[in-house]
Amino acid sequence: MRVLLVGGGGREHAIAEAIARSRRDPHLYAAMSRKNPGIARLCREFILIKEIDPAIVDFAVKNKIELAVIGPETPLAAGIPDMLWDAGIPVVGPRRLAAQIEFDKAWTRNFMKKYNIAGLPGFRVFRKGESGTDEYIDELGDVVIKPAGLTGGKGVKVMGDHFGIEGAKAYAREVLKNDDLVIEERLIGEEFTVQAFVDGSVLAFAPAVQDHKRAFEGDKGPNTGGMGSYNDAKDILPFMKESDYSGAKKIMIDAVMAVRKETGVPYQGVLYGQFMATAKGISVIEFNARFGDPEAMNVIPLIENDFLDVCLAVVTGTLGKTKVAFKKQATVCKYAVPEGYPDDPAKDSVVEIGNTGNAHVFYSSVYEKDGWVYTTGSRAIAILGTAGTIHDAEKIAQDGLLALKGRLYSRRDIGTEELIRKRIKHMEKLRA
Ligand code: AMP
Ligand code: GLY
Repeated sequence: MRVLLVGGGGREHAIAEAIARSRRDPHLYAAMSRKNPGIARLCREFILIKEIDPAIVDFAVKNKIELAVIGPETPLAAGIPDMLWDAGIPVVGPRRLAAQIEFDKAWTRNFMKKYNIAGLPGFRVFRKGESGTDEYIDELGDVVIKPAGLTGGKGVKVMGDHFGIEGAKAYAREVLKNDDLVIEERLIGEEFTVQAFVDGSVLAFAPAVQDHKRAFEGDKGPNTGGMGSYNDAKDILPFMKESDYSGAKKIMIDAVMAVRKETGVPYQGVLYGQFMATAKGISVIEFNARFGDPEAMNVIPLIENDFLDVCLAVVTGTLGKTKVAFKKQATVCKYAVPEGYPDDPAKDSVVEIGNTGNAHVFYSSVYEKDGWVYTTGSRAIAILGTAGTIHDAEKIAQDGLLALKGRLYSRRDIGTEELIRKRIKHMEKLRA
């Protein structure tokens, strides 16, 4: 089967490996913005191209592609799936109208309200140039400021962590010069992610994962795309209740049904729900229209099915007949990122990868030139540990990180017993 993968990061490296393991004689083609060495070596052919370039469709047609899988959000926002479907190529990745759920946070909050979807925090949308943000910030008291458009996970700013009330007001005014804005109530709790394959109406859910957005240990510093993530050897995380997971699944099912009603387009691809478990139950932080990066690297390697069988079920609307199963194993994924990331990262600096032992390596935002691997300034290499417990998986990942040489850093604390205990205590305190 001739498959096109769009995207060249760690998430796409995990997808490429899953495709390569298929029994359907996969011939993999990739469209990526720079040469990811992990993906390149699994491909028949790749094209170096912007991931939003419509010429990707020509590459797909020329290579008689039978199925396309979209990794990142930017091609979804650019309507690449619509163009591929129009060329007769089925796509795992929602059409543009359905992908709004990720790329327009203002649309999504209004949509959740209209369809009465649970987990909606207090919010207000401000359109570019509109005034009145100071008053609304005063009214809520504790807020999060979100540019409505895509910012690579780096545009959202949280009061208390990133600034006080005056800083929030100034940031809101600044964002409004160029973009629509959502101001919402700041939720207090623990975050978790639930990812699912979606065929238009049926969802197949992966185990819950927790990402770590902050750049530095102890959840300090600026927001990043995600510094690392873990899951347990079951569907829920140690700080979660079963009802958090079932509530999240219900919200995601409701959202998929409502997307079809609102847009007329079936949601086919991957839906990612980001939730906050709070004292009052779960709230929706955001939806993404694709796998998370790093969260994809936790769950994709655990899929027991042939990955292409699942993809075909997504595009043919037959997920109800395909039982998607995940191995009951814990994983810990840690990113090695360039020194100075995210504000002033070391770019074009060599990374050497030694023997990572039992840990698995995913290449992310790096490129290969003359046999050497270089950083780009974004998250570079992800190291995955897999074991029966989070504790053992963490040790494997941490040992693996020692094999990396270069101007890099990572968060030692992700997946450690100390941090997990802290999360459990935090939730116990909130729920008491
Ligand atoms: P987002 O890009 O919407 O995922 O936001 C990035 C990060 O900002 C999230 O992972 C949270 O850590 C934080 N965040 C977003 N919305 C809220 C909220 N309403 N309350 C508290 N934290 C939030
Ligand atoms: N790790 C968060 C995201 O992929 O959006």
